[in-house]
Amino acid sequence: MGSNLARQRGRGRAAGRDPAYAKALRWKRAEKASVARTEQVKEKAALRCTWRSRIMAGKVKWVTDIEKSVLINNFEKRGWVQVTENEDWNFYWMSVQTIRNVFSVETGYRLSDDQIVNHFPNHYELTRKDLMVKNIKRYRKELEKEGSPLAEKDENGKYLYLDFVPVTYMLPADYNLFVEEFRKSPSSTWIMKPCGKAQGKGIFLINKLSQIKKWSRDSKTSSFVSQSTKEAYVISLYINNPLLIGGRKFDLRLYVLVSTYRPLRCYMYKLGFCRFCTVKYTPSTSELDNMFVHLTNVAIQKHGEDYNHIHGGKWTVNNLRLYLESTRGKEVTSKLFDEIHWIIVQSLKAVAPVMNNDKHCFECYGYDIIIDDKLKPWLIEVNASPSLTSSTANDRILKYNLINDTLNIAVPNGEIPDCKWNKSPPKEVLGNYEILYDEELAQGDGADRELRSRPGQSLGPKGGRSRDSGRTVLTTWK
Ligand SMILES: Nc1ncnc2c1ncn2[C@@H]1O[C@H](COP(=O)(O)OP(=O)(O)O)[C@@H](O)[C@H]1O
Ligand SMILES: [Mg+2]
Repeated sequence: MGSNLARQRGRGRAAGRDPAYAKALRWKRAEKASVARTEQVKEKAALRCTWRSRIMAGKVKWVTDIEKSVLINNFEKRGWVQVTENEDWNFYWMSVQTIRNVFSVETGYRLSDDQIVNHFPNHYELTRKDLMVKNIKRYRKELEKEGSPLAEKDENGKYLYLDFVPVTYMLPADYNLFVEEFRKSPSSTWIMKPCGKAQGKGIFLINKLSQIKKWSRDSKTSSFVSQSTKEAYVISLYINNPLLIGGRKFDLRLYVLVSTYRPLRCYMYKLGFCRFCTVKYTPSTSELDNMFVHLTNVAIQKHGEDYNHIHGGKWTVNNLRLYLESTRGKEVTSKLFDEIHWIIVQSLKAVAPVMNNDKHCFECYGYDIIIDDKLKPWLIEVNASPSLTSSTANDRILKYNLINDTLNIAVPNGEIPDCKWNKSPPKEVLGNYEILYDEELAQGDGADRELRSRPGQSLGPKGGRSRDSGRTVLTTWK
């Protein structure tokens, strides 16, 4: 101890005499202090880390790139922990842009067994307007080849049962086919829709060929035969006889959850709604440009003068059912709803073989359905990211509950997911969802076999149609 002191004193004297030595000594001391500080910081960080991991232990770690309160409130209610996408996560509610990156070949990202996401990798097979129609056309042809009774046609060559999407052509690819069809009924109205857009953007109605030619000239495509998917449109026959209520056109927004495509298992959310136009309907050509008459999207209608902010131009599906039961009768109403369920299942069956049935995925689709004045439902489009924006107080409750029920099915018990689970939750957790179709169950009781192999006869109680004195009767699914 004493000799230490003497050494230090000696050093002190030497430093006082030699400025270079003094500088080196100061530097050494500073370095020692900095090492100590770094150690302290490291220790604190390690402590924080253990503390955080203790809190997070066993909890679902979530990420979202969709900042919607109906999502975040649901995650927080479950006590799940928010992390960033660069950390380990278990549940990622992502936009369709992000899913593209997650599953892109370039990123080579591999999801682990405890990770799930809210889209199937190639959901666009159903949710892109052109691909949905393409897949349904292929499905119909396949059923026809198999000799399925579902593919039966009438004397004009029209499918008796599978005619549930408006006649549609891809533009520019199918332009010539479209012209041929247009000339068959030159007084009909058509609707042009960009394949990659939503919320009514870029949509317009036409009733003359010259309007398409003008569009083709005006659009940035230098040549009409450009195959660029960016400018790809579909042109669909416009359903110009929609069922009107209070003189207004409306469509249905129904939510359908798919937990697996093979086997197909899907659920229908009971609390869908109708979206009304703010301006009374007229098929008159003078109003062809008035989107408040023709497009039911809330994104369009909310800009209308008569938009009602209290009910947001919406009716519950239950209200619609009651209204139809009292104005048209119970039997036709129930047939209509059965038929709506039936076309949704057919649309899913149409894409099931081409879907990448990734076990990490589930999807809650937003279906757009129009009912015409003969009470025939038409499938208009399917959305991969149905709006989670709430236009009214009721809307907020509905969407919060929709996400709640979706999570209860997709993430059993709100626990860290294991994507190897068999994806058949008990009935008690379904909430407002009901089973729409379960391929395993259907095959188990022979309904599917019956559905595909008994031409011209009653197709059984599960999902088939029977013909009753020439009238089509759709039997129930469940
Ligand atoms: N073939 C059609 N017949 C009648 N109305 C249609 C048709 N296609 C679309 N619409 C109307 O236009 C709206 C928007 O069309 P949609 O295909 O859903 O595109 P978006 O992705 O922009 O919502 C629909 O909600 C419906 O009101
Ligand atoms: Mg839509």
